[in-house]
Amino acid sequence: MKTEADVVKLAPSILAADFARLGEQVAEAEKAGADRIHVDVMDGHFVPNLSMGAPVVQSLRRVTSLPLETHMMITNPDLFLEEFVAAGSDSFLIHCEGNYNLDRTVRRIKELGKRAGVVINPATPASVLEEILQEVDLVLVMTVNPGFGHQHFLLSTLPKLQRVRQMVERMRLSCEVEVDGGVDEETAPLAAAAGANVFVAGSSIFGDKAGVTAAMDRLRASIVGRQKVVRA
Ligand code: DX5
Ligand code: ZN
Repeated sequence: MKTEADVVKLAPSILAADFARLGEQVAEAEKAGADRIHVDVMDGHFVPNLSMGAPVVQSLRRVTSLPLETHMMITNPDLFLEEFVAAGSDSFLIHCEGNYNLDRTVRRIKELGKRAGVVINPATPASVLEEILQEVDLVLVMTVNPGFGHQHFLLSTLPKLQRVRQMVERMRLSCEVEVDGGVDEETAPLAAAAGANVFVAGSSIFGDKAGVTAAMDRLRASIVGRQKVVRA
């Protein structure tokens, strides 16, 4: 039987949005059926790029009722959790890489009453998830190396994605399986077939000349029906 955690969900990443029209673009994504808004936070250390912080979440909180998912690509995410919660974040995605106390971070997020997800980079094996998977609401498999939008989806991550989905099923968890990076009409169906059910997409949504609504409609259409049958 399919559960809520298996339903296809789209998470537009505002990294590719026009920041001068951010509110407008997020409103359009919400109207077009976005399930959550993905906010990429980068510090120039964990990844070689800078992006946005809690003030952006605070502004978005006023213009959308969608959950704000905060992807923490920063060296010490624990230091910033409270600030993002106060700004309006609903969930956090925390990288396994470089976090020596991942369980503590996940527990802190739960104590703050928010959803917790863990993230693995392309070169990180699925096996690192084994002892934390039962504690989290979602797991994100990076399909590019984090730090930049508009990169090519790494096909080499697909077998790992499949293994992550198998782990979730084997352990009978209701945790979501998300992908991030290079997700478009060509790659989303491949990720869906490998077991993903949440799709982060930046440039394929906000960079589409036909507009956000048309892009999201096409992306959703490319996924529906391609999803791996889970918990049948
Ligand atoms: C990359 C970010 C992604 C990024 C995806 O480090 O985590 O969320 O915005 O952008 P696209 O969809 O353009 O690959
Ligand atoms: Zn991201």
